[in-house]
Amino acid sequence: MKFFIATDHAGVAIKPDIIKILQNMGHDVIDLGPMDDSRVDYPDYAHKLCLEVLADTQGAHGILICGTGIGMSLSANKHVGIRAALCHDAYTASMSRAHNDANVLCFGQRVVGLGVAESILQAWCETPFEGGRHATRVEKIEL
Ligand code: RB5
Repeated sequence: MKFFIATDHAGVAIKPDIIKILQNMGHDVIDLGPMDDSRVDYPDYAHKLCLEVLADTQGAHGILICGTGIGMSLSANKHVGIRAALCHDAYTASMSRAHNDANVLCFGQRVVGLGVAESILQAWCETPFEGGRHATRVEKIEL
């Protein structure tokens, strides 16, 4: 899979480890920043990443990390075509793929440690969208 990743200052510390985990799983990761922990506004990075995900022709997914994951998910879900899921455990990560066809994963660096983050990534990558009745519901999300 191909991933774009972006954070704010409250999510940047865990980013190198997340990138390494994904690369070790064989995925391609494009880092959209920031590259240090200077204060930034999470919507700026959420919007930057969503535009890349929407423009990507290979069906890339996105990963957005802030302190709680909440600001990132609120911002990302303003984009038509983005289904951003805030997941703090493997179960919700897996269900967000299987039932919601989520294309952006959000979580909070202040909420999960690296072990839980790794299980979230694993669940996300291993779980395909089930389609069927879930596809009908996903289509109804956009107004
Ligand atoms: C930054 O302090 C924090 O507000 C931000 O990372 C995020 O948690 C907002 O939702």
